[in-house]
Amino acid sequence: MKLKKVLAGIALATCALSVSANSAFKEPSDAIEYRQAAFSMISVQIGDMGAMLKGKVPFDAEQFKMRANNAAALSKMPWEAFYEGTDKGDTAALAAVWAENATFVEKANAFAANADKLALAAQSGDKAVIGKAFGAWAKGCKDCHKQFKD
Ligand code: HEC
Repeated sequence: MKLKKVLAGIALATCALSVSANSAFKEPSDAIEYRQAAFSMISVQIGDMGAMLKGKVPFDAEQFKMRANNAAALSKMPWEAFYEGTDKGDTAALAAVWAENATFVEKANAFAANADKLALAAQSGDKAVIGKAFGAWAKGCKDCHKQFKD
């Protein structure tokens, strides 16, 4: 098997969603808080990167790299907290997360993979390359929210 294929397999396995239970969380409310916190941190990364790309703040290649690396790590994090029983409580997750779980997982995995690509693109320091990778990652937010978030 080619190394690329092996790596892709590992990436998919890391962000696969566990829908049954997750012993890392004591209560469903802990899992809900955890995933919401991850999304809040993702928002900070996308906000600053977007501002740099739009020229609202000066583009700083080092800072952008740091943000993209943060985004790559954070984009893998919310998903394990969407296990069964975390559909009720103080959450904006729609029932579709569990009813159409295969689609949700597919979108989550694509999102995480696109964040890895963004982190790689950020290494180039080339704004055109970075902008394209940023766009591919960023369109995942709305694409998922319209189907899975209140
Ligand atoms: C694969 C689906 C998916 C993707 C991709 C996704 N989100 Fe979300 N997001 C959700 C769901 C589901 C919730 C509701 C979580 C909850 O309330 O339990 C949510 C909640 C949020 C929240 C609210 C957090 C809070 O404090 O309640 C923010 C902000 C957010 N997302 C931002 C983003 C941004 C920015 C991106 C893209 C860079 C993104 N999301 C990508 C599914 C997704």
